[in-house]
Amino acid sequence: MPLKLIREDITNLSCDAIVNAANSTLLGGGGVDGAIHKAAGPGLLNECMTLGGCSTGQAKITKGYDLPSKYVIHTVGPVWRGGNENEEQLLRSCYRNCLAIAKEYNFESVAFPLISSGVYGYPKDEALKIAVDEITSFLYENDMLVYVVIFDKASFNIGEKLFDDIASYIDDRYVDGHFDNSRRRKMKGCLFCPSQASVPQPTYAEAQPVVFQDTCREESESLDDILKHIDESFSEMLLRKIDEKGMTDAECYKKANIDRKLFSKIRSDRLYKPSKTTAIAFAIALELSLEETKDMLMKAGFALSHSNKFDIIIEYFIKKNNYNVFEINEALFAFDQSLLGV
Ligand code: APR
Repeated sequence: MPLKLIREDITNLSCDAIVNAANSTLLGGGGVDGAIHKAAGPGLLNECMTLGGCSTGQAKITKGYDLPSKYVIHTVGPVWRGGNENEEQLLRSCYRNCLAIAKEYNFESVAFPLISSGVYGYPKDEALKIAVDEITSFLYENDMLVYVVIFDKASFNIGEKLFDDIASYIDDRYVDGHFDNSRRRKMKGCLFCPSQASVPQPTYAEAQPVVFQDTCREESESLDDILKHIDESFSEMLLRKIDEKGMTDAECYKKANIDRKLFSKIRSDRLYKPSKTTAIAFAIALELSLEETKDMLMKAGFALSHSNKFDIIIEYFIKKNNYNVFEINEALFAFDQSLLGV
């Protein structure tokens, strides 16, 4: 996946380049600047002393010296002064200028810290939104693996109301011990549906480990539709849905944050089985309904399970018709789940 949000110390990464959130002297400082200079050793400072500093929003490159990454791209973010002094545009230009250098050097991978979100005081969630926005725009036109390194949890400050809403949604559904101890029970052929309320329910002891797979289909789907697509593979359903949504292949896999090579594999092999995260990423990019998402997952050999908080959070957002990957990732991060696009 071309954009990865990871929790890591950037000095540990082995990329073509890591980005340093520096100050205009380029002669080192605290935060990530201090960590990078410490890990790189004196050679980095010696080269920086030849650069003549750097203006806010601009970027300059040096070698990486003792770092595992080959190069360091130094950029100077804006100091946050309330948002009315062109801070957003200056921060955006940091990302654009660093990515322009990475492209000029034909780098395959680059890692960013959250520029300006530490000492310079830029609100972390806004800083993250700008980073993701600028990087995804760049990745629409370019192939590169870009990491955004989240060093502390404060980078995602999901609203308290949304957090509580998701927490209660999980509580109502999360199945401990992988047994379905919620109201619904596995019935013959399908989970409890109101139409089968009269069917006697198995006692808890009989309840089998179930995967939440509500087989009640959407009223709107005709029997013809169901039968027509019943033998469809994951790949065939994906391509059909891309057409039905009027998207191009590139729009879909970029929005799903899937790299072009992986998409080509899926497109060329009708029986290709993607990972569950990849299948979910496509479902979100295509803005599929919950039933369509379950169909697509089933064709890849997966199902949404209520013994998996990640799945429940995905289900929550789909039911809310909220397909904003950033907001979904904020929630996944807040609940210590792996992120989409990682
Ligand atoms: N790896 C990854 N991220 C890190 C690391 C690390 N080792 N150390 C800090 N960070 C994160 C911080 O949590 C923050 O989210 O990097 C982000 C940027 O914070 P700062 O390093 O404070 O950079 P910035 O806010 O841009 O301020 C730059 O601080 O260190 C000085 O010399 C620097 O004057 C400059 C100013």
